[in-house]
Amino acid sequence: MKTEIDFFKKNIRSWYKKNNRNFSWRKTNDPWKIYLIEVLSQQTQLERANKYYKKFILEYPNPEKMALASRRKILNLWSGLGYNNRAIRMHQSSKILNTKPFEDLYPNFMELPGVGEYTNSALLSFAYGEKVITVDTNVKRILRRYFKINNLDKFIEKNQKDLLSYSNSRDFNQALMDLGSKICTNRNPKCSICPLEKQCMKYIKEETQKKEPFQNSNRQKRGQIIKILINAKKVTSCELAKKLNIKEHRVKKLIKDLERDGFINISKNKYIEIKS
Ligand code: ADE
Repeated sequence: MKTEIDFFKKNIRSWYKKNNRNFSWRKTNDPWKIYLIEVLSQQTQLERANKYYKKFILEYPNPEKMALASRRKILNLWSGLGYNNRAIRMHQSSKILNTKPFEDLYPNFMELPGVGEYTNSALLSFAYGEKVITVDTNVKRILRRYFKINNLDKFIEKNQKDLLSYSNSRDFNQALMDLGSKICTNRNPKCSICPLEKQCMKYIKEETQKKEPFQNSNRQKRGQIIKILINAKKVTSCELAKKLNIKEHRVKKLIKDLERDGFINISKNKYIEIKS
């Protein structure tokens, strides 16, 4: 597991260095800014959410300003984004933050309407530099594919420390989010250009599964029998069974097929040879 984790960390880091998306809120530790982009990007593409972020942060650079705004104004600015109840919850949150700032809520922000485990972890990682994994759908998909795991919660609990050691959790999390939206996508992942492909269990498994129909198939075994006969001239079915590491009754069936197809002869004393 250590090798897989090390490869994962190393390759994610170097990929992110070259491919990270340059958003202004990626350079700030201000929890209000982080909170805003997280609310806006729920169920919304990041580039689109970013356009709204610019409008909102200009109008409401802090929760106090938003707390004073009317609901009408908030909904007006929000229009086009959809899921308007997110806007209502954001407005309610700003009113709470107006009396109880982030620093008072830290490390549990779930008192704010609409903040669940994911947004809480995003605030902890992006605003406070805590070593936590932000488990959103992209992160889940990548971990599930790469490590081929069933119980993700258990896996994260066990490996979070290793996954985040020596790295900034913000870069690590954002790298996974970007990789998940650009390369390790839900449908048609671009495995051939993925930095994790060489060690990815999903990729490796599917590659070997593709080859599997041939492995141990009758077609493969018939080919092996012909090869043996080319070199050995004549053999018995018992010898073939030993060489191929399969049961003799299977060999008998295979040689019957080969005889029927005109590849071999079976002599009276049960020797098998290539038909001349
Ligand atoms: N989605 C939500 N927050 C994000 C972030 N910080 N980076 C990339 N995608 C995100």
